[in-house]
Amino acid sequence: MSISAGTLNRVQWLRHEIGIHDRAYFELDASTISDSAYDALFRELRELEAAHPELITPDSPTQRVGGKPLAQFASVTYAVPMLSIQTETDTGASGAEHFDSRVRRELELNFAATEVEYVAELKFDGLAVSLRFERGIFTQGATRGDGTTGEDVTQNLKTIRDIPLLLMGESPPLLEVRGEVYMCRDELARYNKEAQARGEKPLVNPRNGAAGSIRQLDPNIAASRPLRFFAYGIGAVDGWALPATQKELLDALAAFGLPVSKHCAVLRGWRELADFHDRIGEQRAQIPFDIDGVVYKVNSIALQNRLGFRSREPRWAVAHKYPAEEARTTVLAIDIQVGRTGALTPVAKLQPVFVGGVTVSNATLHNEEEARRKDVRVGDTVVVRRAGDVIPEIVAVVIEARPTQAAENDLFNCVPLYPPFELPGTCPQCGSHVVREEGGAIVRCSGGLVCPAQARGALLHFANRRTMDIEGLGDKLVDQLIAGGHVKTPADLYALTVPVLASLDRMGEKSAENLIHAIEKSRRSNLARFIFALGIRNVGESTARDLARHFGSFSALQNADVGALENIPDVGPVIAESIVDFFAEMHNREEIARLTDAGVHWEEHEGTANAPTGLLVGKLFVLTGTLPGLTREGAKELIEAAGGKVSSSVSKKTSYVIAGEEAGSKLGHAQELGITILDEAKLFQLLRGECL
Ligand code: IVH
Repeated sequence: MSISAGTLNRVQWLRHEIGIHDRAYFELDASTISDSAYDALFRELRELEAAHPELITPDSPTQRVGGKPLAQFASVTYAVPMLSIQTETDTGASGAEHFDSRVRRELELNFAATEVEYVAELKFDGLAVSLRFERGIFTQGATRGDGTTGEDVTQNLKTIRDIPLLLMGESPPLLEVRGEVYMCRDELARYNKEAQARGEKPLVNPRNGAAGSIRQLDPNIAASRPLRFFAYGIGAVDGWALPATQKELLDALAAFGLPVSKHCAVLRGWRELADFHDRIGEQRAQIPFDIDGVVYKVNSIALQNRLGFRSREPRWAVAHKYPAEEARTTVLAIDIQVGRTGALTPVAKLQPVFVGGVTVSNATLHNEEEARRKDVRVGDTVVVRRAGDVIPEIVAVVIEARPTQAAENDLFNCVPLYPPFELPGTCPQCGSHVVREEGGAIVRCSGGLVCPAQARGALLHFANRRTMDIEGLGDKLVDQLIAGGHVKTPADLYALTVPVLASLDRMGEKSAENLIHAIEKSRRSNLARFIFALGIRNVGESTARDLARHFGSFSALQNADVGALENIPDVGPVIAESIVDFFAEMHNREEIARLTDAGVHWEEHEGTANAPTGLLVGKLFVLTGTLPGLTREGAKELIEAAGGKVSSSVSKKTSYVIAGEEAGSKLGHAQELGITILDEAKLFQLLRGECL
């Protein structure tokens, strides 16, 4: 079949176009086209190539995918062996000094001689491979194997977009490029999330992920994994004038279009090497892929040749290690911690393990969803990671090592010994029922008034100037009262005596008497303050006022259902549920009874004297972003003083959204609902009663 100029143009255009989208996606992390449109371009190219096989070029994007699974890998023999590298496990500066003095001794440099020049690179923690380019075309790629013979994994390597199928510029008849296949941590995490959603096993860590993917017979598996590549050296070469230094070699590889890490420096003497080691060590957590050390190489190729090898290790290079950031250990138990706001967090108790420079025996599982996603169970072998000062976390479960038992009705089948993790229905600290928030991601104890984990916050809130106003009861005192076992819940405050208080640190008789007096005084309150003092989730000062005004009595509020609560203008479903949850918990009701038994009382009907007045009565505001002249608290006070209300979330009931700089999602939400959006200047106009 003859090929028309139109077809040829179209094929070239398709390749060019696909190349642009690939680069945007893989190098810039930005999608410039929809998946379906990309697939359509790809399909058209593949069809044209199928109709005109003579148009297929080795660097066509179609050549990366579509290979058939192999029965086994062929072996590849290296003319120039793939070397290994000597490791320096002394992670201090002396590690660099040892290497430098060895090099100087071998080169017979005396002390007066100038410092040796080195290139320092990262030691990528992945899988070493060798790529063969013939006249610039990627023809074969293989693993290191024993250094002399490796496995031909060309099909898998072709799927890695970092690896050019055709070198740029003028390329020699033969160039073998040596480098590392690796994965970025965030890309692996994203892949694992998706894999688990499909019911597949997660990859344990980036190194296993890279190595495992390259050793798959079916290239579709490698194609589905976020693999990347860095070049750091060469093997056999023909028809190419070797550069004089390692640095020039790296630059030449980059000029061929091969990815070379930017973390690379030309340095002199061991002190500069040690500095590089330190500097990279500090940046380690921010580097998006795993490294297990840095590599120092003598820069001059002539000196490299003079130094030569000892067995399979060149004398001109060394890997200077860092402490391992990952280690394996077993999960002894999964405990539940209750935070100060009542959030329940699962924490894995681990067989203590030395990782990232410290002994780790706990790792947070963040929340139930996370624990389920990772499917961490008691008895599991897990990979624990501690990078920099980041809190230790469980990266993955080694599923193969999960303890099992024979299935109940089928002794030939094994089932896991422990069931999937589940948070309990009641708080382990106080026995109150738990409530799921924000779509189930947060599970919270509902016993805010009685839970020991929340006691400090509950007591401080209860004593606050805007609630029961117990003057002199600050955080230091609350801490002492809790630690001494004198107070567990707000009602306990009313049983305190002068001698007990006077026995505390830095409390004289006089201050004890003053505090008792303040506590006495707080017995008499009003309904709005008392409601606010209970610390019901999502019930702030102004909602408490609304509730008091609307219900008029505490018992009416206590017995209101969600429907009745939602009838109040500023009360939405979230607030209504929080109130119902609070009173549904018997522990809370008992605590309220203890408070009234202790003599706490309030004026129920506030009358109409306190009915709000002002320009903004009946107007509901939401604040978002940073205002130029007002703090959020300041803006709120002005609005409330004018009779308006401030709420934290935008709804149909919102009258105005006041937006400042870096306004968040609330602004978008308000725009969707067609709510009037004002800036600070307009707010002032409104407060002055001017027309907008
Ligand atoms: S050069 C000089 N450079 O370390 C000897 N190797 O045993 C040839 N590695 O698995 C290796 N980063 O894949 C060299 N910047 C780097 C490296 C590096 C990681 C790996 C290599 C091999 C091991 C050497």
